Amino acid sequence: MASSLIDGRWDYGASDAAIFASIAVGIPEDGMPGFGAVMDADQIDVLVRLMREAEHAQSH
Ligand code: HEM
Repeated sequence: MASSLIDGRWDYGASDAAIFASIAVGIPEDGMPGFGAVMDADQIDVLVRLMREAEHAQSH
């Protein structure tokens, strides 16, 4: 059901802040749970950076 997170397409906002929010709050209308209660901000930041790096590596 979920689409690629590293294809450069962001349906819920492409900024770091928007991706952070997608992870922390989740996407209730699509069934994605929020992880804000189980990961702290530093951990979510690491995931955002990981996705950015993979996205960048794939576009070259
Ligand atoms: C740590 C684990 C996860 C991370 C880092 C993550 C991250 C994300 C992000 C950043 C988006 C927004 C994508 C966009 O803007 O286009 C997204 C969307 C979505 N996620 Fe997750 N997600 C996680 C776990 C899950 C789980 C467990 C589920 C389902 C049980 C799920 C289902 C979805 C769905 C259905 C969408 C919306 C469709 C899409 O844009 O692909 N995610 N996820």
